[in-house]
Amino acid sequence: MEPIALAVIGGTGVYALAQLDDVTTVQVDTPYGAPSGPIRIGSLGGQRVAFLARHGEGHSIPPHKINYRANIAALKQLGVARVLALNTVGGISENWGPQVLGCPDQLIDYTWGRISTFCEEAGSEVLHVDFGHPYTPALRAQVLAAAARAGVSVVDGGCYGATQGPRLETNAEVERLRRDGCDLVGMTGMPEAGLAREAGLDYACLAIVANWAAGCAGDEEITMAEVLANVAVASAGLPAIVSELVNQ
Ligand code: HPA
Repeated sequence: MEPIALAVIGGTGVYALAQLDDVTTVQVDTPYGAPSGPIRIGSLGGQRVAFLARHGEGHSIPPHKINYRANIAALKQLGVARVLALNTVGGISENWGPQVLGCPDQLIDYTWGRISTFCEEAGSEVLHVDFGHPYTPALRAQVLAAAARAGVSVVDGGCYGATQGPRLETNAEVERLRRDGCDLVGMTGMPEAGLAREAGLDYACLAIVANWAAGCAGDEEITMAEVLANVAVASAGLPAIVSELVNQ
């Protein structure tokens, strides 16, 4: 069988990959437990593509309860080498407004209490992986080139602040993120990216901006309805990007 050209991990509001055809569903078990749900493997752009909904297909798993290790290990067990992570985020910097798609090149990890490494169990090999560039530069370049060919605009570069959630941030927390240099904020960027690096997978993030982060656009309440509506609009270009990406 053809190898899987790309795995896509969907975030809030993206529970399936549109235009994925001839889908077979696999349940994978890993030494770290079960992933967030079944992995759907189908065809897109003439290549085999796998899709996993990070929060479960009914969005039942909050960010701090996701078994990130099982998700990454399951994809690795399927022979996946490249992962495109879709992360729904709040925008902080001017060019990261609602409905924007962006491909960050840096991150800062503010999460806590999550199992963040495969070096957890006694006796497992201790790895100190290089993480200076947390997203695989070559895959980022391919994502940006694919988006350009697909005619979908994607912001190139930015710093992802990974917060604990599941609550949204206070205005002051977002101000601190801004001072730290974060352009966007989400709850699922870590430990996923670090685990992918430990597992030797190429990994890039395509962030989908759902809302202005707390306090960045007046003092309007951020609602789930707004988040989902903006994600739905911004997601329209995803199949075209993936279709280009799998062919390079
Ligand atoms: N903060 C953190 N995570 C998010 C946000 C936010 O404002 N919007 C969507 N995911």
